[in-house]
Amino acid sequence: MALWRTVQVLRTADARMFESAAYQPGSRAVDAYTIDLANPSANDAIRKAGGITNVRRYPNGALLVKENFNLHRRATGVTAMLKLSGYDPADRNWVMAAYTPAGKVIAYGKVPACIACHAMVSTQDFVFAPPPKQLLSVAIWKAFFPKQTITSAYEQLLRWHPAAVVR
Ligand code: HEC
Repeated sequence: MALWRTVQVLRTADARMFESAAYQPGSRAVDAYTIDLANPSANDAIRKAGGITNVRRYPNGALLVKENFNLHRRATGVTAMLKLSGYDPADRNWVMAAYTPAGKVIAYGKVPACIACHAMVSTQDFVFAPPPKQLLSVAIWKAFFPKQTITSAYEQLLRWHPAAVVR
């Protein structure tokens, strides 16, 4: 599918999202480490605004990707959000997608869970800054993913950066 292919282009180019780092800490056992990617239109918006928390609206065509890796740095999945004018006006026109590492679609479109959580940063047009800049409480993660384990590294970030917790 077209979006998956575009994601592969970013992976091949190692097109890192501005403000992110390779194998930065994630939150749960399924994404103990993450790599965030962005296309030029998303990264330009972040750069121009002076950071993810300052972006008010991403332009049409902006694409952000989160590659997930477990504690052994083995790929567990890929998520993506693509800005598509007119697609979902009630929720900022993001196409949300989740894939297995091989590209099998797990969720696609106006995915309620993705939207509900990402709407916590509606002032940033639904895009979170990576840890430790913005964090979510264990209670929030558990509400969305009751069976998943939070990594001890993330729990430590929560202790070190209490002001970074998004409410
Ligand atoms: C419980 C909250 C929660 C849910 C549910 C959730 N996300 Fe996220 N997502 C986050 C947080 C927090 C980050 C920032 C952490 C990071 O970048 O590692 C993030 C990062 C991302 C990113 C990188 C861009 C950004 O915002 O930093 C993408 C793309 C993404 N998520 C897509 C999705 C998709 C698609 C779904 C649904 C299949 C989803 N997310 C479900 C909390 C959530």
